[in-house]
Amino acid sequence: MAVIAEDVVAAGNGANNKKPGGQTEYVVRAKDLVKEFQMGQETTRALNGVSLDIKRGEYLSIMGPSGSGKSTFFNMIGGLDKPNNGSVFINDVDMAQLDAQELAFLRCHTIGYIFQSFNLIPVMTALENVQLPTIFAGKPSEDGTARAMELLEIVGLGHRLHHKPSELSGGQQQRVAIARSLANNPSIVLADEPTGNLDLKTGTEIIALLRKLNKEQGVTIISATHDHKMVDVSDRVVWIRDGRVDKIELREDIDLHIGSMGNEEDEA
Ligand SMILES: Nc1ncnc2c1ncn2[C@@H]1O[C@H](COP(=O)(O)OP(=O)(O)OP(=O)(O)O)[C@@H](O)[C@H]1O
Ligand SMILES: [Mg+2]
Repeated sequence: MAVIAEDVVAAGNGANNKKPGGQTEYVVRAKDLVKEFQMGQETTRALNGVSLDIKRGEYLSIMGPSGSGKSTFFNMIGGLDKPNNGSVFINDVDMAQLDAQELAFLRCHTIGYIFQSFNLIPVMTALENVQLPTIFAGKPSEDGTARAMELLEIVGLGHRLHHKPSELSGGQQQRVAIARSLANNPSIVLADEPTGNLDLKTGTEIIALLRKLNKEQGVTIISATHDHKMVDVSDRVVWIRDGRVDKIELREDIDLHIGSMGNEEDEA
């Protein structure tokens, strides 16, 4: 096993994600990220110098108009794509320094991913979908099954273990995806519009579930969203516009105008 990746995992994981001695308080540090996409003659600058430090145990929402660069930013901090310029540090390790194997190890052990479209494997049951990351991580099958059952219980699907995605509602599929993201006890969960395909009530339940995981298990939640309900539970909201950080709001600022936002049913 690669040494750097082991350090990353050792620094970041654990049920409570407590800060071991000497470890910085930042789980993610993005510095001057620039990302351009070339389409024929046209270049789109999706990220235009984004810097952001994210604290261990934080619940952070990233908001901004469609096309502002939220998913692109996620792909950078999740190690799914590389910036043209700038750097991403996860638990103080520069992602650019990792080789392919180390990066795969980091993605498997340290980061959990939740997508708007769930991305479950259709031929697998809920239990098998949730267990899958533990198999990638080389955990014994009995341990993986036990972990998957425990997580499905936590997300309220203990009675749906053997259902396939097509036999589950949208909200239930998103719960399976949340359970799967936690299979290897990650220190960071990246959720890209986790309520984007859900109705108001189910979306509210999913947000409450993410917040509970954040509070009780210390998982850092970083969520891109158009959903103002998400703002309600966030420690910080980062607004992105045209590939730049436009403004950052703290919990205290959010509380000041939460009353007015709570009345909006923004399902953009
Ligand atoms: N693979 C790609 N190739 C070319 N252009 C891309 C690619 N991915 C994103 N873009 C462009 O980069 C910009 C940022 O896209 P991104 O997906 O990050 O936006 P977003 O903030 O997540 O939007 P939304 O809220 O609609 O999900 C957009 O202009 C988009 O068209
Ligand atoms: Mg997006």
